[in-house]
Amino acid sequence: MKIIQLTDIHLPEGGEDTMGIDIPANFSKVLEAIEREGPDHLVLTGDLCYHAGSRKVYEVIKLKLDIMGIPYSLLSGNHDDPEVLADVFNIEHLLVGEELFYKRKLGGKTALFLETSRGFVSDEQLAWLDKELSQLRGTALIFMHHPPLMAGVPHMDNNYALQNMEEVQQLLFSYPKMVNVFCGHYHVDKILCLNNLVVHITPSVYFQIDWRVPGFRIDHKRPAYRIIELLKGGGLRSSVVYV
Ligand SMILES: [Fe+2]
Repeated sequence: MKIIQLTDIHLPEGGEDTMGIDIPANFSKVLEAIEREGPDHLVLTGDLCYHAGSRKVYEVIKLKLDIMGIPYSLLSGNHDDPEVLADVFNIEHLLVGEELFYKRKLGGKTALFLETSRGFVSDEQLAWLDKELSQLRGTALIFMHHPPLMAGVPHMDNNYALQNMEEVQQLLFSYPKMVNVFCGHYHVDKILCLNNLVVHITPSVYFQIDWRVPGFRIDHKRPAYRIIELLKGGGLRSSVVYV
């Protein structure tokens, strides 16, 4: 099972100041590269929109994905509106109140998709996650927008980290096997490990952040995506590709 994750597209409606970056062109180039990879499934881990959730942007992205014809799953980032997103992508049935969190089988494995568009994992969702983890066997596979560990990216850790990180960590640490989390939000390529938790942060389709400096600085403007291969026997391989 070959999954491709793309994250933090930040597609503008038009007219926004995008720091000279042609985001629609980035998105098209990434989709062309993905098509050549021939994945079985795509996962979009949030921040589809430039600044705020936009029906128009979701419609553009949906059209492009539907033309490509590869099955896909989505979740919401802090620059999304989960209800509008669910409406446009015809997944309203997955909404739990105003939140979009759900599970889905990918290559025979249960993947959990979390909702952190308000910057935290709600109590209701933590209870759901606890129940779902108790029913899993083997390595857990989770997609979410915010990393659940501090990442050594000062601009993001200090200003935009997951608010109830410790609560989420406690729950994930209590799972008896390894937990693989694939996320975005930080616009960097990093792997973070603590106890049984491995967090893969995938770089953005927009621009990448320099994690070596205390403030905000762009590292580079090459758009990226991540390949995740789920192997028979339970292992996985993962690589970031810059376009
Ligand atoms: Fe984000």
